[in-house]
Amino acid sequence: MKFSGTANYVATQDLMLAVNAAITLQRPLLVKGEPGTGKTMLAEEVAQALGMPLLQWHIKSTTKAQQGLYEYDAVSRLRDSQLADIDGGQRVKDINNYIVKGVLWQAFTAEQPVALLIDEIDKADIEFPNDLLREIDRMEFYCYETRQLIQARHRPLVFITSNNEKELPDAFLRRCFFHYIKFPDAATMQSIVDVHFPGLKKDLVSAALKTFFDVRNLPGLKKKPSTSELLDWLKLLLAEDISADTLQTQDHKVAVPPLVGALLKNEQDMSLFEKLMYMQRNNR
Ligand SMILES: Nc1ncnc2c1ncn2[C@@H]1O[C@H](COP(=O)(O)OP(=O)(O)OP(=O)(O)O)[C@@H](O)[C@H]1O
Ligand SMILES: [Mg+2]
Repeated sequence: MKFSGTANYVATQDLMLAVNAAITLQRPLLVKGEPGTGKTMLAEEVAQALGMPLLQWHIKSTTKAQQGLYEYDAVSRLRDSQLADIDGGQRVKDINNYIVKGVLWQAFTAEQPVALLIDEIDKADIEFPNDLLREIDRMEFYCYETRQLIQARHRPLVFITSNNEKELPDAFLRRCFFHYIKFPDAATMQSIVDVHFPGLKKDLVSAALKTFFDVRNLPGLKKKPSTSELLDWLKLLLAEDISADTLQTQDHKVAVPPLVGALLKNEQDMSLFEKLMYMQRNNR
């Protein structure tokens, strides 16, 4: 099993190495990086490239580790017990009918090896990663209600993404292979744009990329635009049929890009940008 990129996803050499290292070590791949650098998409694409079904677990601030294993639906059981005459009370007797399997249970018991994405692990509280140490390490857990040990038939290929909102505990980090997706350089970004918009006019792409990196490099920006924002912006430029000349001034300084709301997402950044425009215009 080796990952070598896909037609829809531009993977740099070091990213491919990291994916293959995690496969070899049979450890989860912990992926960090700015929002919109393709962390979630990586899991989808690797799963597809290796022909594995992908199970996704999107973490929220209220998510508990136990929900990924199983939950016991006591409320349904109580209700069914009160309606017992419906099927002679058979369903209520078997507790297995009230165990709701979580993604880890599904991944462990799947017929074929699967990929498992634990997306945005840093959204959960600090105990969450600690609560999953044993499951990730030994690939097994115990269901107390049914007195069953659930063991992985095949080790799933685990992807864990984080936006760095919280530090992860050392014991958890020890069990992962780590990769930081660096913000794409100009050449990589060019390839990403080519994947999404094949056949886009070269001069428009290079003018748009120049403006994009100029905006990103503005000192003091609160929220830098990301890959996915560049793609949104290009889509708008295409829809509005905006030409390359509109994006770049003669002296190759930053011009006010149209539809800049796709790139800048708060009023401080907008006014910072406008100030810079104003200064440049006066310097000319
Ligand atoms: N390397 C890449 N190749 C192709 N498309 C990419 C790449 N990186 C990002 N994209 C585009 O950017 C979009 C956002 O990617 P994705 O949702 O995976 O980002 P993310 O890192 O998970 O962001 P967040 O942290 O906000 O969840 C994708 O839908 C895809 O269109
Ligand atoms: Mg994501």
